[in-house]
Amino acid sequence: MTEPSPTGAATIDPGALLSERFERAIRAAFPDLQGSVSAMVTPSRQSEHGDFQSNAAMALGKRAGMKPRDVALKIIEKLDLSGIAEAPTEASIAGPGFINIRLKAELLSELLGRLDTPELGIEPPASPRTIVVDLCGVNLAKQMHVGHLRATVIGDAIARVFERLGWNVVRQSHVGDWGLPIAMVVQKLIELEDAGEDLSSIGLDDLNRIYRAAQGECKGETKALETIRTFNTGPKAEIEAELRVESASEALDRAKARLVSLQSGDERTAGVWKRIYDVTMRACLQTCARLHANVTDEHSAGESTYRGELAALVQDLVDRGIAEESDGALVVRVEGIKAPTLIRKSDGGFLYATTDIAGVRRRVQNLGGDVLVYCVDARQGLHFRQVFGAARRAGYTTKANGTEARLAHAAFGMVMGEDNTPLKTRSGENVKLTDLLDEAVQRAGVTVAEKNPDLAAEERAKIAEAVGIAAIKYTDLSGERAKDYVFSFDRMLAFEGNTGPYLLYAFVRTQGVVRKAREGGVTGWESSGLTIGEAQEKALALTLLRYPGVVRAVGEHLEPHRLCAYLYDLATAYSSFYENCPVLRGDDEAVRASRLRLCDLTGRVLSDGLRTLGLPVLERM
Ligand code: ARG
Repeated sequence: MTEPSPTGAATIDPGALLSERFERAIRAAFPDLQGSVSAMVTPSRQSEHGDFQSNAAMALGKRAGMKPRDVALKIIEKLDLSGIAEAPTEASIAGPGFINIRLKAELLSELLGRLDTPELGIEPPASPRTIVVDLCGVNLAKQMHVGHLRATVIGDAIARVFERLGWNVVRQSHVGDWGLPIAMVVQKLIELEDAGEDLSSIGLDDLNRIYRAAQGECKGETKALETIRTFNTGPKAEIEAELRVESASEALDRAKARLVSLQSGDERTAGVWKRIYDVTMRACLQTCARLHANVTDEHSAGESTYRGELAALVQDLVDRGIAEESDGALVVRVEGIKAPTLIRKSDGGFLYATTDIAGVRRRVQNLGGDVLVYCVDARQGLHFRQVFGAARRAGYTTKANGTEARLAHAAFGMVMGEDNTPLKTRSGENVKLTDLLDEAVQRAGVTVAEKNPDLAAEERAKIAEAVGIAAIKYTDLSGERAKDYVFSFDRMLAFEGNTGPYLLYAFVRTQGVVRKAREGGVTGWESSGLTIGEAQEKALALTLLRYPGVVRAVGEHLEPHRLCAYLYDLATAYSSFYENCPVLRGDDEAVRASRLRLCDLTGRVLSDGLRTLGLPVLERM
């Protein structure tokens, strides 16, 4: 999704550099080859053979009907590795046709020098484009739960990655603050107030309870309630569908009447609605802040903000023949999707999809989005295909300058309990997000106290907060986005392995070395030359050089887990470098300076990467 960088920053990674050259050579050697070619360049498994190898000849041999060794010969004939590596010869071909490559000795220090800038090799584009990221998306009168954790944490990480890449980023939290479910709560609150209750100090827990009571009352015994429970984070569309099949109870009739007063702006109704809005959003934004997620008031773009646009939008679609009638309702048919997109019910009401179609239009045509990303539960996949398809048919995905915006559903999987069913409390309730955060921080506090008994209480609390939050966020980010994962405090809080605490600690260790050097009066190393000698130094250097490419790949695939995996690789490479290559103990000054610079650079890449994911970074722990 990101443009190849015109500044050539993409070419800082020797692996990527080699791949480019190999692909060019393969094209030149086999001009008639159809389809894509892959250089299949990987780091060498045995360093005595070289630094990298290309395995392309094996795959091409089959396609070209030749012996892989002959293919390899033809490739190296066309291969230009000037400036990168020694020119390959027949002796570079090993086994059935692997091509071994040894990098030029000075190359790594040269490239590291290019990485070692304030931008860390990620230069902003000449003309930045705009991305709109849909994230968070809480619902009024409901506590945030683990589904919102993912929508907030992953959405914010994607937004940060694009900020890091120099895009204009607009965050939008599509708050579920309108429609019948909200009217039910408003109605219920008004009834309570009429019965003499004081609503001024009502909190989110109370609202959550009233919400459920209202749902129950409006539907009697109902299946809808069950559905909401089963789907739980659940697609709002499902809930609406259920509501439609319900026979009207009296409570439902009252809620529907309340919806009408809400829509017509009745003062008392609006006042109660505003109270529900404020209570919910205060709690939500507090949780976002605690999560280090940049979601604030200015990012809220609730469903209610579209209410004035929907009638005209639907009329526009009818007038242009895009919407059609079906059983008294209005639908937009989308090619390739069996279920048409319902945009107006037979009773005249609008739907979740209608608002989202208006959202696409606003994001493209008013906010200038070149790319729209929706970080939403995977179970809403059909909904977004319907919305995207309908919006496209309507022409709402075309920008004022005529370019077509790209729309993507960055779908995420569910958070499961250790029993492999959706995470619930023992009594079968949704787990409140704040409870999860509290528990993670409390558990982190225990470990921090064990590891560091002399810390002052205040310092310990600060570290525990960062470690607990990092643990939860990192787990949420480090798995493949679309997959479900099992929530385990023990695993996420471990200080070893691919965890948030491990990475925070890895950064702290790099800082420790640098601090010690400064305290010991070692100076001048910041601008020293870099000499890459030992195997572990080389491995660390090669890992560092992958950083800009990884950040770009996260943007391209909308997959923060790639950056997590990278940071873990980097922390691992750093640890084996640190174990094998003495930094401060050595007596060769040039080597010490070069290694200190590597420690410092590793620290800066780690902290930049952690911040780009939205993780808190500690100087000491
Ligand atoms: N409030 C919705 C839910 O909880 C999520 C909103 C997702 N964003 C969107 N543009 N539909 O299901």
